[in-house]
Amino acid sequence: MGLAKDFFIYLSQNKVLNSGAKRYGLKLGAKSVVAGTNVEEMIESVKALNIQGISCTIDNLGEFVYEREEATKAKEQILNVIEAIHEHQVDAHISLKPTQLGLDIDYDFCFKNLKDIVEAANRYNIFVNVDMEDYGHLQPSFDLIDELSKSYNNIGTVIQAYFFRAEEDIEKYKNYRLRLVKGAYKESSEVAYQDKQLIDQNFVRLIEYHLLHGKFTSIATHDHNIINHVKQFVKDNNIPLDKFEFQMLYGFRKDMQVQLAKEGFNFCTYVPFGDDWYGYFMRRLAERPANLQLVGKQVFNK
Ligand code: FDA
Repeated sequence: MGLAKDFFIYLSQNKVLNSGAKRYGLKLGAKSVVAGTNVEEMIESVKALNIQGISCTIDNLGEFVYEREEATKAKEQILNVIEAIHEHQVDAHISLKPTQLGLDIDYDFCFKNLKDIVEAANRYNIFVNVDMEDYGHLQPSFDLIDELSKSYNNIGTVIQAYFFRAEEDIEKYKNYRLRLVKGAYKESSEVAYQDKQLIDQNFVRLIEYHLLHGKFTSIATHDHNIINHVKQFVKDNNIPLDKFEFQMLYGFRKDMQVQLAKEGFNFCTYVPFGDDWYGYFMRRLAERPANLQLVGKQVFNK
């Protein structure tokens, strides 16, 4: 299990394979977990989810960008998504990654890109979630959020439970709308729990804390044990339904997504789209090699 995880994480970071994947389109199983390559296809997927009572957070796929031109192109595409959300009046908001907007190129350049997006979204009252990436980008990402939230309140972020510092961060950001996750990147034992059980325990602790003390909690997991625990916890503590939502990734546990929405819980699907699907998809395989089944299904459904 550990070796498979390391292997897929290694593949997710391989630049040659990544650019090759872009050229060859949505191959293998990626099609079932990526909602199309362009805005039109993505909006159709969002509408289909909205009809089932599911709201969406839209991710224009891309990360670890090292060229200004590419980062600017990504910003323009996210601005297109904001316009499309408004034009089609779909129930959706934005998720984005700072490294796609140039965090590795220049902090100020990235800040300006992010500000343009948050400002455009703010005009339509659309929320923007800053996804959290690996540890090396964690503090600069929080710095971007701190600076932006002096002027805008339509911004929130993610707390990754595998980090030792997560407890401090959740306390600091408790007045934000937060997505809580276990954490998807390979991190060193100096900064992050490695043991799955310890990560799960910390995840539950953080969820309970933010549900009791925080603004709005997005519980992002496919783990039925944690979802069942949360259901019982909110019942026992009289936490109103409008204080939290469950989130899952597009294409994963689809029946459970619909079921949770039917039970009356707020549910939000993370909807990635675009041609830069490779790193995203490899991380999903690293999390759960059984996700390879999605590849199998895709191949046999052709
Ligand atoms: P995990 O993979 O630990 O699985 C636990 C158990 O749940 C499994 O043993 C199995 O029983 C069951 N299970 C899980 N998936 C299943 C499936 N597909 N079918 C059947 N059973 C399944 N990470 C990050 O670092 N930064 C971020 O910004 C985000 N953002 C984000 C948004 C959303 C909406 C989600 C859902 C996740 C993220 N993540 C993330 C990823 C997150 O950190 C984590 O890596 C994955 O969600 C995998 O962990 P889980 O909690 O889903 O269950």
